[in-house]
Amino acid sequence: MGTRKGLAKPPRAPGTLPERTRSALLATARAVRSHAHAPYSRFTVGAAVLDEAGRIHAGCNVENASYGLTVCAERNAVAAAVAAGAKSIRAVAIVTRLRRPPATPCGACRQVLAELAGDEVPILLAGPTGGAREERLGALLPQAFRLR
Ligand code: THU
Repeated sequence: MGTRKGLAKPPRAPGTLPERTRSALLATARAVRSHAHAPYSRFTVGAAVLDEAGRIHAGCNVENASYGLTVCAERNAVAAAVAAGAKSIRAVAIVTRLRRPPATPCGACRQVLAELAGDEVPILLAGPTGGAREERLGALLPQAFRLR
């Protein structure tokens, strides 16, 4: 075994997220959840997406008196990422009040995430505090419809 010097990265399995990226994504999703506009359901959701440049973009759910116009947190996070110039999504965090089990993204949001994220992309699902369950987009949405 070679010796590690200084701040060398600890080994990790291919495709897993560095711990500091996980915590930054979770912290962003938790913070933005407090901005959710959810006066009808009272179910607030915060989402954060990591782009190919390492930037994190946030979104919360925005409800409407015409209920069907509600937009989920995940889709708002994707829109914020695209508006900031992101071309692909490398990881996602979703936070709600639910812990065990944590909430999973709705079907519409899974499809929207699949537009910019590959099947291998990790989706962190978490409650207001504590750790996250990690799923892969391809497990949440097998055989996603894609045109590229
Ligand atoms: N919601 C999300 O923001 N993301 C999801 O994946 C599922 C549901 C929101 C929509 C609505 O404002 C509230 O949660 C209750 O459905």
